[in-house]
Amino acid sequence: MKLLDGKKCAESLVADIARKVAGYEESGLRKPHMTVILVGEHAPSESYVKSKIRSCESAGFEGTLLRFPDTIKEAELLEKIREINADQTTDGLIVQLPLPRHINQQHIINAIDPEKDIDGFHPTNFGRMTLGQKAFRPATAYGICKLLQFYEIPVWGKHCVVIGRSNIVGKPISIMLSNDFDIGNATVTLTHIETPRELLLDETRRADIVIVAVGIPGFVTEDMVKEGVVVIDVGINRLEDGKIVGDVDFENVKKKCSWITPVPGGVGRMTVAALMINTLMAYQNNFDLV
Ligand code: GUN
Repeated sequence: MKLLDGKKCAESLVADIARKVAGYEESGLRKPHMTVILVGEHAPSESYVKSKIRSCESAGFEGTLLRFPDTIKEAELLEKIREINADQTTDGLIVQLPLPRHINQQHIINAIDPEKDIDGFHPTNFGRMTLGQKAFRPATAYGICKLLQFYEIPVWGKHCVVIGRSNIVGKPISIMLSNDFDIGNATVTLTHIETPRELLLDETRRADIVIVAVGIPGFVTEDMVKEGVVVIDVGINRLEDGKIVGDVDFENVKKKCSWITPVPGGVGRMTVAALMINTLMAYQNNFDLV
């Protein structure tokens, strides 16, 4: 069993980005700029947002965190987004999810300028990605692809089973891996909460690659996978004792794996790295650098 080290891969990708940014600055351009909106005081979001801003510093980007109280009205948030859309000095904009219940998430995502939508959640980017066109790709899914690429894990022609159909992870990774992309051309089965247990087991037991994003500690057990499987664990679950674990029963499942991601230190780090790649792309688009 070998570990897919998201920390190492992310650091290498961010170092590449930092080198490019230094070159652009030498030629007189401003730094790439990411703006993150955080509403309320959701503890996991606080920690994700912090790591995004920290990563901006490592990449040589400007990172701006805009905090709003959870009493902010949807109309006020929409107005703020319109302001940032019009601001030529911001390349990429993220609104950290989840949002308070009185704010309609879809209204917010749809208001972000698709050219600044580094999360890749706007229907324009999601649609372009689905059609195989150039787009900002949802960061966690894109990060998984980059991790597979970094470790030269074969994907082409493989049988991949995705567990969980969220718009943030399960749905986009299943589309990306089945598309004719560099990291793609797999045969993908997308399973979800309504998949009958027997069907789920039939699929996972013959999968070459299992990707799980359900938010349930220990959901994937040893009996669900075959010998030599590659397991990608997207879960980040905080147990009562404060320990962070994924969706995979790591200690037992790892015995059967050729490769597996640890939690923490796996996919989480890659989400942030992929956001940096997307921000650099937004910046390059702005300055006609590609
Ligand atoms: N909340 C959990 N994951 C994400 C993500 O990738 N982007 C945003 N904006 N919010 C999230």
